[in-house]
Amino acid sequence: MLVLGIESSCDETGLALVRDGVLVDAVLASQADVHALFGGVVPELASREHLRFMGPLYDQLMARQGLSASDLDAVAVARGPGLLGCLLVGSAFAKGLCLASGAKLVGVNHLLAHLLAAGLEQELVFPALGLLVSGGHTNIYLFESATEVAQLGRTLDDAAGEAFDKCGKVLGLAYPGGKMLDALARRGHADRHLVPRPYLDNQNLDFSFSGLKTAVALHAAAHFGPHDWPRPLTDPADAPQALCDTCASFNLAVAETLEAKVRRALDRHPQVRHLMAAGGVAANSLIRERLTALMAGRGGAVFMPHPSRCTDNAAMIAYAGWLFAREGRCHDLSLEAVPRGRPIPDDWVGSPVRT
Ligand code: KG4
Ligand code: ZN
Repeated sequence: MLVLGIESSCDETGLALVRDGVLVDAVLASQADVHALFGGVVPELASREHLRFMGPLYDQLMARQGLSASDLDAVAVARGPGLLGCLLVGSAFAKGLCLASGAKLVGVNHLLAHLLAAGLEQELVFPALGLLVSGGHTNIYLFESATEVAQLGRTLDDAAGEAFDKCGKVLGLAYPGGKMLDALARRGHADRHLVPRPYLDNQNLDFSFSGLKTAVALHAAAHFGPHDWPRPLTDPADAPQALCDTCASFNLAVAETLEAKVRRALDRHPQVRHLMAAGGVAANSLIRERLTALMAGRGGAVFMPHPSRCTDNAAMIAYAGWLFAREGRCHDLSLEAVPRGRPIPDDWVGSPVRT
């Protein structure tokens, strides 16, 4: 079964081809430089950029593989959550392709696709927990199988990536600050008392990261001057040791908070010995280390996509689309895009795609 995946939920325009669960080829156009000028993604600009890139990228991908729309068995598209205008560009393109070619349409939950992406590299084992840590979300799921999923917890305010980026902004790092903060933290020594481990003193599996920025801002105001390093900091070599130490303290606090809630979820579901972790923040070196050690201690494993596939991409959409389509989970042309904050409905129609 050949599935085309389309990703346009935020600021990356991506298309990829997956055949029988194996990645064939992918193209991606990042808009990061467009939005960097504004310090965050500008939704209207993002939709226009998707519109500009979508057609040419599709032509490039299909020409490179010598394929045409009639070769596609299914078109999987990220239906949400995301920026509505951006999602509409992708879903309109997908619907047009399905209408023209007869391929099945599969609306994919972008967040679940992040978690399942590790299946492109290794065989996933279920049941498994899913920890999604991105710029917009911090969710814990229980996967009974690749397609039967229940959400166990979520962030009540800032997502982990948002906390990284806000902390990066406070410290004068170039946007988005997560990756740089990770790099600087590796050179620093963490002070466990500088940044709290938030929202652990309860019984739930939810997160709250909004207080972390305040702790770092107060520390920065008391100890750092505006000229202690060039702002925005783009070269790690310009970072003084005190800045690296602050980054290390913040990084450790986030890593330990995530680890604590995953441990709690595992204690409540003792039959689960595997974890899928994904989203931009799963590229974080300390978080990867901590989760790997935690799952090894439980006699299981953690499945994480290669760091290059932790950020938004279409391979994960095509792969999730393949998993769903082969079970008959497809959509008709009334598929709705779902903006951030609204639940993704269980509105599958159709029968398994068999080829
Ligand atoms: O999943 P993603 O690419 O985009 C969505 O949110 O959909 O995640 C982006 C987030 C940003 O907040 C970015 O700063 C963060 O992931 N990030 C990292 C690292 N690499 C990216 N955060 C911590 N450590 C990293 N190495
Ligand atoms: Zn994403």
